[in-house]
Amino acid sequence: MQKIVVGGGVPLRGEVRISGAKNAVLPILCAGLLGDAPLVVRNVPNLHDVKTTLRLLAELGAGITLDDSFTIRIDPTRVRNHVAPYELVKTMRASVLVLGPLLARHGAAEVSLPGGCAIGSRPVDQHIKGMQALGAEVAVEHGFIKARARRLRGARVVFDMVSVGATENVLMAATLAEGRTVLENAAREPEIVDLAECLVAMGARIEGAGSDRIVVEGVERLDGGEHAVVADRIEAGTFLVAAAMTGGAVTATHARPDTMSVVLDKLRDAGAALECDGDRIHLEMRGRPRAVDLTTAPHPGFPTDMQAQFMALDCIAEGTGVVHENIFENRFMHVQELLRLGADIRVEGNTAIVRGVPRLSGAPVMATDLRASASLVLAGLVAEGDTTIDRIYHLDRGYENIEAKLSALGARIRRID
Ligand code: EPZ
Repeated sequence: MQKIVVGGGVPLRGEVRISGAKNAVLPILCAGLLGDAPLVVRNVPNLHDVKTTLRLLAELGAGITLDDSFTIRIDPTRVRNHVAPYELVKTMRASVLVLGPLLARHGAAEVSLPGGCAIGSRPVDQHIKGMQALGAEVAVEHGFIKARARRLRGARVVFDMVSVGATENVLMAATLAEGRTVLENAAREPEIVDLAECLVAMGARIEGAGSDRIVVEGVERLDGGEHAVVADRIEAGTFLVAAAMTGGAVTATHARPDTMSVVLDKLRDAGAALECDGDRIHLEMRGRPRAVDLTTAPHPGFPTDMQAQFMALDCIAEGTGVVHENIFENRFMHVQELLRLGADIRVEGNTAIVRGVPRLSGAPVMATDLRASASLVLAGLVAEGDTTIDRIYHLDRGYENIEAKLSALGARIRRID
């Protein structure tokens, strides 16, 4: 089991290149199943979840070639298998995103129920409801979602709650359905806009992506195409919070500041000086951050994927920050570990009250989920002494070479076996 050791007390300085967004590339790779010709995806981040998705697509029969280390070509023309097995789906819930494409392109799909994960039960009822609305017969049995449809028919789909994955699954399925589909109460995340841009490049007809009402005119077939994945706003946010916590001066390059305004505003509230210039975001921080209050919400609200990172900032900030987690029922797994580093946090239901302390002290801690592990790295960057983080496979799922990027900014961080 690999671990990461982080030494505290070094202000981060320099430039960090932001990679393609994990939460955009995963649905976009699945969208490659929809076309009659290869899809070329550029700016692909080198993540464990990307490798898992490519294994799944290959399992289904798609041809996968790496044109270079950031460009992947998916050839869907020999897909014959429509079953996404439990072994793969249990390691990555985003595997459920092959459901819509397989159903729309091949009229059949069997996808293992993803099961829960550390941050919550993560049901897929909205995905199933959407496929049924498009005319599919869906049975859930023996741990599998089994869906069939001669040809999907366009429909009005009203989601019971805002769901990024369900919006993506239904959006992809609707591109090949007969007639018009209207998605109401759709998620508005920038990753959905990016997926829609990729689908349009393949020949889909989509209006309104990024709003809560998306209209899709079904077409007979989709081509391949080319698409460059949008920058990862969560990776960018994570590095900027690290810069703010360590009192440093960092420039994130190849970023998309227009997709992260609520995070940038929160960093300003914490006392950081920020300048955006095209795809570059420069942050400078002098002295100790001020505590900020957070309430997570669907985009354009404060992103739940940045909650753990800002909690780490509040741990060493001036004052007290109140954190409300409204998206997932169990996304405070990092609290117990931050307490081991000397933080002062009290949890009441989905609210955490974080009283800033002057300093944390390094200790062995354990990662539990992707963003929780990021918050432990950030805390380690400011704790006195070394912090050793175990189970860092969580980190590798969503951050490309995080210790190389942090080392290049001056951090004392290394991976040990
Ligand atoms: C996506 O997960 C992201 N993952 C998550 O990022 C992110 O936290 C989440 O959206 C919210 O922004 C990917 O894009 C691969 P949801 P997803 O469906 O689609 C409930 C990270 O750290 N729900 O928007 O699974 C659900 O339980 C990961 O990068 C249902 O009840 O999230 C949750 O409470 C973590 N029924 C809420 O809705 C459903 O059918 C939002 O979930 C679907 C969801």
